[in-house]
Amino acid sequence: MHDPVAMRALHLSRFKAEPAIFVAPGRVNLIGEHTDYAEGFVMPAAIDFATLAGISPRADGKVVLHAENFSEERTFDAADLPKEASKHWSDYPLGVLAVLAGEGVRIPGLSLTLWGDVPLSSGLSSSASVEVATALAVTSMLGVRYTGSVLARLCQRAENEFVGANCGIMDQFISANGAEDHALLLDCRDLSFKLAPIPPHVALVIANTMVKHSVAGGEYTSRRAQVEEAAAVIGRHRPEVRFLRDATLEDLARWGSEMSPNAVKRARHVISENTRTVAAADALLKGDLSKLGRLMAEAHRSYSQDFEASCVEADAMVALAQDLPGLIGARLTGGGFGGCTINLVEREHAAEFSEELGARYATETGIVPQLMICHASRGAHQEGSLVQPGGG
Ligand code: GLA
Repeated sequence: MHDPVAMRALHLSRFKAEPAIFVAPGRVNLIGEHTDYAEGFVMPAAIDFATLAGISPRADGKVVLHAENFSEERTFDAADLPKEASKHWSDYPLGVLAVLAGEGVRIPGLSLTLWGDVPLSSGLSSSASVEVATALAVTSMLGVRYTGSVLARLCQRAENEFVGANCGIMDQFISANGAEDHALLLDCRDLSFKLAPIPPHVALVIANTMVKHSVAGGEYTSRRAQVEEAAAVIGRHRPEVRFLRDATLEDLARWGSEMSPNAVKRARHVISENTRTVAAADALLKGDLSKLGRLMAEAHRSYSQDFEASCVEADAMVALAQDLPGLIGARLTGGGFGGCTINLVEREHAAEFSEELGARYATETGIVPQLMICHASRGAHQEGSLVQPGGG
């Protein structure tokens, strides 16, 4: 687990300056996949794994970035920061600085130490957590206060415009705005949200297939293009439809023949997933966990068969969980093509569930998975402070 005392010691010994420390979590998405960029609904929760950022000002006009996970330091002139990505971990903090600079924020000399325990390339949003931790650290040092929504948008832009990954808003939003013991139903059209408490007897068991996931990869981008193709075809007939958020399955039945077969399947997933996500939030709010579990099962089927964003290993992880004690619902979470499954599990069975699932998966696939029993945690904040950037 992340340790602010260790972060302080690290930053102090490296930079001889007292850091202010910021925490930004990774996330798990309970339901609502590839709906964010269609201006639809998602329901993620922030998790215990996070990026910590220690920051202190410097008088020499340098921006020094140190990533403890990679034991690597990079130094730049604050007045002449890179304008382009270099496929390096520093792209994420540099992207945030570039977007802030574009907003008219003058970037001063600073030392930034980053350390995180969000598993990398696992679909748990380690990149978003680095971006949000950096953005909160830098803006706090400068005394600039952004709301959680604005911070999330800036970080999404860092990823879209600087890093070059065409992601939606979900990951950065939940990292900035997560709430302890709650899932968050986000309307990605206007960024309004509703918190839904996760009952104390429910654990979030995250199962890492160990198959690497990346949103920078071609599959994420091609799925997004197919979703946009479907929206454009429907929009030719119903101009008020600019995103699949506004389309219905009837629209798809009428005009699907004008789309590529893949676009039809992707659209069927996105349109039905939006409905499921809103229903899932309602079920969680009403405490109807068996309905929530059924919706998660349908969501996985749709993600795997229509969106074709699963993989053999993730399908196996979901199938192997089905008859284990305590399971409420299981599905592949995040951008797809690997990464983790999310299992909602009765807390009293969580340890046994994890052990058994891990053993079954190892036997079936020959891969030793990583099982994590998590809870929903608060969003980005300064260490030792109760204040969060907050919604709005
Ligand atoms: C990745 C992206 C998100 C979202 C999900 C799929 O995590 O970063 O914006 O599109 O995939 O739901």
